[in-house]
Amino acid sequence: MNISIFGLGYVGAVSLACLARDGHRVIGVDIDPAKLDLIRAGKTPVVEEGMVELMSRVASSGRVEVTDDVSRAVLGSDLSLVCVGTPSAANGSQDLTATLNVARQLGRALRGKREPHVFVFRSTLVPGTVEEVLRPILEEESGTRDGEGFHICFQPEFLREGSSIRDYDKPPFTIVGARDDAPVRRLRELFGHLPCEFHVTSIRAAEMVKYSCNNFHAVKITFANETARLCEALGVDPFQVMDLVCKDRSLNISPAYLKPGFAFGGSCLPKDLRATMYLAKTHDVEVPMHAAVLASNRVHIDYAIAKVLASGKRRVGLIGLSFKTGTDDLRESPLVMLAEQFIGKGLSLLVYDPEVHLSQLLGANRRFIEQHLPHIGSLLRPDLQTVIEESDILVVGLTGAKVSEALKRHTRKAQLVLDLINLAGRDELPASVQGLCW
Ligand SMILES: NC(=O)c1ccc[n+]([C@@H]2O[C@H](COP(=O)([O-])OP(=O)(O)OC[C@H]3O[C@@H](n4cnc5c(N)ncnc54)[C@H](O)[C@@H]3O)[C@@H](O)[C@H]2O)c1
Repeated sequence: MNISIFGLGYVGAVSLACLARDGHRVIGVDIDPAKLDLIRAGKTPVVEEGMVELMSRVASSGRVEVTDDVSRAVLGSDLSLVCVGTPSAANGSQDLTATLNVARQLGRALRGKREPHVFVFRSTLVPGTVEEVLRPILEEESGTRDGEGFHICFQPEFLREGSSIRDYDKPPFTIVGARDDAPVRRLRELFGHLPCEFHVTSIRAAEMVKYSCNNFHAVKITFANETARLCEALGVDPFQVMDLVCKDRSLNISPAYLKPGFAFGGSCLPKDLRATMYLAKTHDVEVPMHAAVLASNRVHIDYAIAKVLASGKRRVGLIGLSFKTGTDDLRESPLVMLAEQFIGKGLSLLVYDPEVHLSQLLGANRRFIEQHLPHIGSLLRPDLQTVIEESDILVVGLTGAKVSEALKRHTRKAQLVLDLINLAGRDELPASVQGLCW
């Protein structure tokens, strides 16, 4: 394929070298003449393992050209990868100067082209940038429309500096955000052979996946480092601890606990986090990320409460009360906190939870509910149907086929469903029911 690459930094230069190695003809464009001269001379503009040899090899293959002439690059290629920098502005927002400049130039260059062109944005861009900012610029400057004279898409880049050629050849996955098939087909030709899954999603989701991945990496590093500081103060070997933590592939290093849903609670996580915080405080160890977890969990509960209050509905049906499905443990259940708030705000409340039988609650579990919801007996209903029928808004915090079936079959027109756990699936509630999800 004939490919043009805009921005020859870490991402662009490595992509240029690897695509040319794989037999494609590549035209590189950068505003920095020094980078163009280096590549022309068969040298690498970035320090990366393997790049010195690879650049010299591909430069002599005759498949690499560099230029500062944007039109020449667009007219001489079928597809453009945009890899310009998107650094932080002083206020933390994304500085789009380079991206906007290149989009204007690309749009203008397209005026001279008859065949549809594919623009693949690979720079990290905040969700909405491609569709709301870049597409209008390209359409205005080119005088043609996305889907007609060109196809726009977003493919986040996952290579890491230091191992970028290896990461290019073995990425964690390929994600393409696109509105139609044409750009996806071209990208499959380019990257479909790589040993990883190829996922197609919306442009916005693809933009967001890149941020979520990087944020997750940052959270993981910080988690390990906060754990290490606390371990050091306690005289525990942090490497031993984290090695063992990572050996649990079922709950720790796994998709477990990574599905959006409702707040955590129960008899372990909140109390153990509190004890960790106290331990850190008494050893003068700062662990701000751990410290933020309970506060963030509380925000999630408050967010659900605000959604129900904003609905204006006064008769609330709470489906689920214990801290998770399949248990009658009510201690620190976030659903109990919801119930307390609804009652406090004067809403009328009915509760269904097949596992919670007041007569069988014992010990700390019983004390907790007596303290927080002393009138729980008058709120609990043994059947789901009654709760659905007698409520104007249903708050779903309980999984199970019975509940999801009931939601699909028995909810009425104008009845709201706040599906905290996406039980019914995003689009599966009946059309008459207004679903409220995260
Ligand atoms: N560096 C990484 O490891 C990495 C990994 C994944 C994603 N990303 C993302 O990829 C993007 C590029 O990162 P990078 O590290 O390669 O950046 P970089 O700063 O190394 O390179 C960007 C290049 O773009 C050039 N440029 C600026 N304006 C231009 C224009 N109008 N036309 C042509 N070229 C222009 C610059 O001269 C520079 O050479 C960023 O959005 C970054 O967040 C980077």
